[in-house]
Amino acid sequence: MSVPKLTIKDLHVAVEGKEILKGVNLEVKGGEIHAIMGPNGTGKSTLASALMGHPKYEVTSGTVTLDDQDLLEMAVDERARAGLFLAMQYPSEISGVTNSDFLRSAINAKRGEGNEISLMKFIRELDKKMELLEMDESFATRYLNEGFSGGEKKRNEILQMLMLQPRIAILDEIDSGLDIDALKVVAKGVNSMRSPEFGCLIITHYQRLLNYIKPDFVHVFMQGRIVKSGGPELAERLEAEGYDWVKEELGIEDEAANPTA
Ligand SMILES: Nc1ncnc2c1ncn2[C@@H]1O[C@H](COP(=O)(O)OP(=O)(O)OP(=O)(O)O)[C@@H](O)[C@H]1O
Ligand SMILES: [Mg+2]
Repeated sequence: MSVPKLTIKDLHVAVEGKEILKGVNLEVKGGEIHAIMGPNGTGKSTLASALMGHPKYEVTSGTVTLDDQDLLEMAVDERARAGLFLAMQYPSEISGVTNSDFLRSAINAKRGEGNEISLMKFIRELDKKMELLEMDESFATRYLNEGFSGGEKKRNEILQMLMLQPRIAILDEIDSGLDIDALKVVAKGVNSMRSPEFGCLIITHYQRLLNYIKPDFVHVFMQGRIVKSGGPELAERLEAEGYDWVKEELGIEDEAANPTA
């Protein structure tokens, strides 16, 4: 396995003709954990959706490469096959498809025809990962996310990540709605992935998740781009003081923190 490298350069993205991302620059390499924090509505989830190739998000300029391959030229499934994974802020429910069937199809789609995972191996892996995440086995046979509580959906996103073993994962508010114990379990899942072959971008509002998943870099997202970067101490200061000092430091007008205002 090779060390992944995701490189985002001056990325501009529009939704329904309105520019939301205004020049995002970021590099995430294998072995690194990056955290993005920023006020509501500034474009964090838009960045995640655009990277995954959601058709609603139009890249108007800039480049994104994964291992020097042009990511923006790739279809959504090709991006997944190249090792990109997104845990969504609002995971969708799919009625009629069990969690286990969904996971097996996703794994096989990634592995390609003729290289499908054996049922035995799949079940063994699923058992192991569900145990790590302290999930009841009934979640394997329930329909995907249907009737799952908010926290259960988040835990299930991490299960998908552990089963798919991506090279670069984007986790959008994976901690929202989690109780303290679930937060630790989700962190355990993410930490179990840590290796030079895995890079992670965590979008979060709260420093507390970062107590359990130590980030190497913390970025502040405002006005559709990263306006400031630092280490874990930056997250601690944001939690304690909010965003006003960043705005003051950078001369950002209050209402301009929201790109759509
Ligand atoms: N599919 C869409 N249709 C219309 N507007 C959108 C869409 N996606 C994003 N936007 C707008 O783009 C802006 C940024 O939204 P985004 O979800 O990226 O913010 P965010 O930083 O993730 O916020 P939060 O912290 O609340 O999750 C918002 O004003 C939002 O309404
Ligand atoms: Mg969001």
